[in-house]
Amino acid sequence: MTIAIKPIDPVGRAFFAGEVSGVDLTRPLSEAEVAAVHDGMDQFGVLVFHDQDIDDAQQLVFSRALGPLETATGDIAALHERRVSMDLNDISNLDRNNKVVARDDRRRLFGLGNQLWHSDSSFKDVPAKYSILSARTIPPTGGNTEFADMRAAYDALDEATKREVHDLVCSHSQIFSRGILGFTDFTDEERVKWAPVRQRLVRRHPRTGRLSLYLSSHAGAIEGWPVPEARAFLRDLNEHATQRQFVYTHVWRPHDLVMWDNRVTMHRARRYDHTEARDLRRTTLTNEVSSLEQAP
Ligand code: OGA
Ligand code: MN
Repeated sequence: MTIAIKPIDPVGRAFFAGEVSGVDLTRPLSEAEVAAVHDGMDQFGVLVFHDQDIDDAQQLVFSRALGPLETATGDIAALHERRVSMDLNDISNLDRNNKVVARDDRRRLFGLGNQLWHSDSSFKDVPAKYSILSARTIPPTGGNTEFADMRAAYDALDEATKREVHDLVCSHSQIFSRGILGFTDFTDEERVKWAPVRQRLVRRHPRTGRLSLYLSSHAGAIEGWPVPEARAFLRDLNEHATQRQFVYTHVWRPHDLVMWDNRVTMHRARRYDHTEARDLRRTTLTNEVSSLEQAP
């Protein structure tokens, strides 16, 4: 088998979202395959692998071949409630017994934050590089995931706005993003753990050299700006960056694996029937350094 990557939408978006074929993620990848995946990520920002019937252990082997992982310290579930190890983020609406959680379950309400456009772990000092999401069970309808290209969004800004955003630094916290949805039910310990962190608003990709807008629903302030003005501006930038021409919508099939580069994309979950099971598992590569070290 040889790995091949082609654009999912060659006419509309030839450089965003690629479909990978000729690779079996149940087996360890060769060095050449790992290099091809990194090259594909540099080019497309999002890669889709179909028909990858993998378990957690196989997902971890594949993920670690691409780089060091972060741990799931952004999850709200207590340790005794977790279904999966701390090396995976549980992107599901299930409890430890694989039962769909109640509509007003705290874990579900917190998880609804994924329906806001975001970049994973931008609320951590050292944020995420790639996210790798494996679909184990998907609901019969709804529950798509949308991805927006923050390189294209940056490139499409007018020159005055590019100058204005160039050196801005934002504060990111899960307290901000959940607050947008009216979720304020944080413990004192969580408030300390998720105190705001600093991230550049414009960052440079270390391999391609391309600039991107580093936006996320976790961003709730811009250093040196009054908060309402910062939030209004961030809203405008988000509106610009998530216009349809920058967005790929992934409609999940069972055993899909989708990988995205959080440095150059935002994503969001779409609604689905809360009584249906949805079980996805995410491994996450650490960026190893802060975005502050990836200045344009
Ligand atoms: C994630 C995420 C979106 C979805 O896994 O980080 O935001 O559709 N998922 O579940
Ligand atoms: Mn996410």
